[in-house]
Amino acid sequence: MTFDFDTVIDRRGTDSQKWQKYAGRDILPLWVADMDFKSSPAIISALQERVAQGVFGYARPVKSTVDAFVNALEQRYGWSVDPSWLIWLPGLVVGLNIVAQAFAQPGEEVITLTPIYPPFMSAPKNSVRASVQVPLRLDATQHRWEIDWVALERAVTPKTKIFLLCNPHNPVARVWRRDELTGLGEFCVRHNLVLCSDEIHCDLILEDLPHIPTALLGGDIAGRTITLMAPSKTYNVPGLGTSIAIIPDPTLRAQFIRATAGVVAEVTSLGFTACEAAYRDSEAWRQALLKTLRSNRDLLVDYVTRELPGVVIEAPIEATYLAWLNVSALKLADPIAHFEKHGVGLSDGAFFGSPRGEHVRINFGCPRATLTEALSRMKRALTAG
Ligand SMILES: Cc1ncc(COP(=O)(O)O)c(C=O)c1O
Repeated sequence: MTFDFDTVIDRRGTDSQKWQKYAGRDILPLWVADMDFKSSPAIISALQERVAQGVFGYARPVKSTVDAFVNALEQRYGWSVDPSWLIWLPGLVVGLNIVAQAFAQPGEEVITLTPIYPPFMSAPKNSVRASVQVPLRLDATQHRWEIDWVALERAVTPKTKIFLLCNPHNPVARVWRRDELTGLGEFCVRHNLVLCSDEIHCDLILEDLPHIPTALLGGDIAGRTITLMAPSKTYNVPGLGTSIAIIPDPTLRAQFIRATAGVVAEVTSLGFTACEAAYRDSEAWRQALLKTLRSNRDLLVDYVTRELPGVVIEAPIEATYLAWLNVSALKLADPIAHFEKHGVGLSDGAFFGSPRGEHVRINFGCPRATLTEALSRMKRALTAG
């Protein structure tokens, strides 16, 4: 079966956040992390069938939805998850915020590695917990973003309660290796931290590398791990708000559930429908998507290297459809405004904790024609000065 990742779908004038940002302006939006592809045909037809039934009451997941998710974890990662460990959430960022509230008191600290998806830093602050940020280190000879273990140890205080991990890591697109994950797990055990592992990008690995669920590491690590997953990035259904927290430990699970009470909305029936079709019926589509993303990634890397002097991809893009570009050599006071002026909307690296003007993030989850046009606009932006 073939799938269409080439047709440019007109999202202007729709409810798309990504496209509304530049409504009425000729700017290609390659910022927020959703893709300009349709979801899988299996998801679309499951939704159509669900809509045709026509009743949209309060929803609960049925067994087939839970089975679809649990079976995917077993098949892909060899992870046997008990359905009682699952807590359904209307968004993964909700989960990050609940973790901060449930496992730290006001004034206590939540550590993360930067640059990082901004809610990792804002979630603690939303509930007056402190965000402690430990920068990743770029090993320029290995071309790898590495954990700075010395800085990490130094950052811990008696007030530190939680470690927020992004596995794989947005925005540097690293797939963490077993030794690194084990090191982080042992770090959390040593300092008695709850380990929250956001694995929303785990089904979008572009290199021949395994995704290792953090909770599968041995010893005492699983018992302190809260894993957050979702079909939203991989199957392009983030607007349907469906995420899952996996919490094997009953005490942590009860604490987490208590923090959701009265403030976290239910997942919708359309969200459950899409989730089931995603995990059970969309594997061929996902494989075709990965092929498209690999090809877009290669095009991007090649074009940046050959045609965009001063723009540097510092390390391989191992996962996600997001690339982290160092633009500091361009010496632009405001790189985002500059590229917007030339018709491309990127994400500002400063929001991810990178020094102002140093990095931008580009979303290459779009038809090749869109990416090609965006790259040639970026080239014009460089020559226009
Ligand atoms: C690492 C990470 N976590 C969470 C999210 C967003 O999750 P949600 O839309 O379910 O809140 C994103 C979106 O880009 C992300 O990259």
